[in-house]
Amino acid sequence: MASFTGKPKNVVLEVKDLKVYYETPKGDVLAVNSIDFKLYEGEILGLVGESGCGKSTAAMGILQLVTPPGRIVSGEVRLLGQNLLEMTDLELRKRRWSELSLIPQGAMNSLNPTMRIKDQIYDVIRTHLGRTSKDKIEHRLAQLFEMVGLPMRVAQMYPHELSGGMKQRVCIAMAIALTPTVIIADEFTSALDVVVQRVVAQTMLKVKRLLGVSMIMIGHDMGLMAQMVDRIAVMYAGKIVEIAPLHSLFAQPGHPYSRLLIDAVPSLKERKPLRVTEGITHDPRNPPPGCIFQLRCPFVMDRCRIQSPPFYEISPDQQVACYLHQPTENGSLIDVTAAARNS
Ligand SMILES: Nc1ncnc2c1ncn2[C@@H]1O[C@H](COP(=O)(O)OP(=O)(O)OP(=O)(O)O)[C@@H](O)[C@H]1O
Ligand SMILES: [Mg+2]
Repeated sequence: MASFTGKPKNVVLEVKDLKVYYETPKGDVLAVNSIDFKLYEGEILGLVGESGCGKSTAAMGILQLVTPPGRIVSGEVRLLGQNLLEMTDLELRKRRWSELSLIPQGAMNSLNPTMRIKDQIYDVIRTHLGRTSKDKIEHRLAQLFEMVGLPMRVAQMYPHELSGGMKQRVCIAMAIALTPTVIIADEFTSALDVVVQRVVAQTMLKVKRLLGVSMIMIGHDMGLMAQMVDRIAVMYAGKIVEIAPLHSLFAQPGHPYSRLLIDAVPSLKERKPLRVTEGITHDPRNPPPGCIFQLRCPFVMDRCRIQSPPFYEISPDQQVACYLHQPTENGSLIDVTAAARNS
């Protein structure tokens, strides 16, 4: 399990009130509907949530890669203090790959089928470093392949000659080619079988250790997250509903949705029925007033239907947007885990 001792101090990336909507004939889809979080130096933050909750849109919003019908409605994305939303296209292009790089969802299928692997990586290096000697570029390629565990013969190959795991390592090599400060990896193991998933995940951890890079790891596999990340942000229908250190989230999930996600992870140790999350998500063009999870929440209360809950800090660095944690008169909090067990 990834360890993360001591509280990190330096914020490398800060996202504030980010909203990204998609225009449709029937109204805007509120794909990312005001999210806030910080990413600290050297940490891996997991961003989890079910399909369609807005994880990839959030990633595209952070990198300013949203294209029509999508648009960034508001927000700030501060990378080392500088707001990417206020930058020109040229300034942004300079920062992509070199300071902030993305392994997009399905990246391994978007490698150029007509180009050798080495040329695709050279392109990334040359575009940013300009005229660089062939020796220098080849040296860099060898370093990158060593880091991600690829044999040098792969450099001469075309994408169709590689296995899924190898292609994904090529994508990791591209993402780290210019030693960025932050990498966002979107579902980087989802199309791989479990054994290869593990190997690729280990590669990511090695890269993180060697480069000291900070990462946002997007996925919906809580089991994989548990082995990799330091903190987790749980997203539901365009909003972050809980953000917590990994061990706190698993030991005492604060949000009913986080609890349900964790209960959906099969366990080899104990025989337990898998819980399903009842109900369906609301129409993303028309979220209900109040809490975003109210239609599926086993603990919904009247006030959840009126006003969105604020974040309550229920243990150090564990913040939960749920009225179950509103301190009562005697200061006690409701235990969501125990309540879920009894429900
Ligand atoms: N081009 C588009 N036009 C309209 N709606 C879109 C478009 N792209 C995405 N959406 C909607 O935005 C919401 C968020 O989608 P997004 O792809 O960000 O989710 P996700 O959490 O990454 O899902 P997954 O786990 O399946 O990758 C969904 O409701 C989706 O239907
Ligand atoms: Mg996605």
